[in-house]
Amino acid sequence: MRHLMNPLDFSVEELERLFNLADDIEANMDKYAHACQGKKLATCFYEPSTRTRLSFEAAMLNLGGSVIGFSDASSSSVSKGESVSDTIRVISCFADICAMRHHKEGAPMVAASKSSIPVINAGDGGHQHPTQTLTDLLTIRSLKGRLDHFTIGLCGDLKFGRTAHSLVNALVRYEGIRFIFISPRELMIPDYITDMLKEKNIPYEEVIRLDDIMPKLDLLYMTRVQKERFFNEEDYVRLKDFYILDAAKMRLAAPDMLVLHPLPRVNEISVEVDNDPRAAYFKQVQYGVYVRMALILTLLNITVD
Ligand code: NCD
Repeated sequence: MRHLMNPLDFSVEELERLFNLADDIEANMDKYAHACQGKKLATCFYEPSTRTRLSFEAAMLNLGGSVIGFSDASSSSVSKGESVSDTIRVISCFADICAMRHHKEGAPMVAASKSSIPVINAGDGGHQHPTQTLTDLLTIRSLKGRLDHFTIGLCGDLKFGRTAHSLVNALVRYEGIRFIFISPRELMIPDYITDMLKEKNIPYEEVIRLDDIMPKLDLLYMTRVQKERFFNEEDYVRLKDFYILDAAKMRLAAPDMLVLHPLPRVNEISVEVDNDPRAAYFKQVQYGVYVRMALILTLLNITVD
């Protein structure tokens, strides 16, 4: 039995198979409409989410399966003091696969160690968000036709943003990737990530201004300032509008640069950018459903001919 805790749990070859499956799902949705008939997905969300939870639920429903779960820890036995280990043991009796989001780093890992069904980490604190990374990779692969040889700018809250951490982790396995980290000093990418890049000899720059580097980018990954992980409101208010990607900034970018964002967006991308053909963040949401469908099938060992 396999779980997904970290994007690196899958080898590059396994990811390739997963993305090929997602491509086939995109092209032949009907073929997969009953693949998970009789199977249940449990979504255990201890932390708020709309997109990720609904994306998992839509994925399972598209496969003909059903969904149970909770989206708010206060409405589950957690509020009575139940541990994650006990919760997953119970859920294992009800469902065939579980997607778990938790505010504590490592909680889905603890659950996986006690689970008799596959557990998917749907985001753990500021740590990892592997299914968002699979979504990001599938989006890049589908829209750019490759996952190697490009310069990617990651902009915004690189300190607390787990989607950025997960994506960098996953991209270092592809050739010719160059990173540009764009953040205010207070929200710089953690040292453990830059140490890893140095160790692997992967080129990166850390800058504060977005304008200067726009022309160099093949991809721009915007992120929101993670309000809920700040210790004080004052710092959040000071930093929340540090970057606003607007039409004027987009004029500095290459004609085929793509803008990605895991969403939810706050102010960091002006709505005027939404109609720019380079804005890929809503397409990204759709790819998220395909890749989660592929992931559910893979972890449940279900093949469709
Ligand atoms: C992200 C998350 O939860 O980390 N959202 C998502 O899953 N699409 C990004 C965010 O909340 O900023």
